[in-house]
Amino acid sequence: MSVDACRIVELPRLDDARGSLTFIEAERQIPFPIRRVYYLFGVPEGGERGGHAHRALRQLLIAVAGSFEVVLDDGVRQRRVRLDSPSTGLLIVPGIWRELEAFSAGAVCLVLASEPYDEADYWRDYEEFRRSLRSAVASPC
Ligand code: TYD
Repeated sequence: MSVDACRIVELPRLDDARGSLTFIEAERQIPFPIRRVYYLFGVPEGGERGGHAHRALRQLLIAVAGSFEVVLDDGVRQRRVRLDSPSTGLLIVPGIWRELEAFSAGAVCLVLASEPYDEADYWRDYEEFRRSLRSAVASPC
């Protein structure tokens, strides 16, 4: 998959004098059933997470507090996306290496995921990830 297949999803947002409310419905605002929710918090300011890619997993990342940057890499091209709004998500498709960087103090990264946790779904070695993509292109069937 190309980094261009990853996209920003603007979520519904209701603002009034009491504050704001955003909601997410599986298979409406996001194109997959939600099978897992996890969140990153307590990341030191300027800290980094990620450093892996997934074979099948689809995810929506939201900065529900603070901000961070996501570097997307399809093995050929890179794209950097800054997330800093609780009503904006980043949809990441399978086969994309991602690094999460530049966490602000107190940032919380909420992740909605299409599958339960499965370590076998990860590429954790960047060179192995690139080799796998090259062999998939060489033998598409
Ligand atoms: P990892 O996905 O590498 O986190 P990050 O991308 O934020 O750096 O996961 C870190 C550890 O947590 C790893 O040992 C796997 C474990 N883990 C679970 O057990 N369940 C989960 O749903 C997730 C996301 C991670």
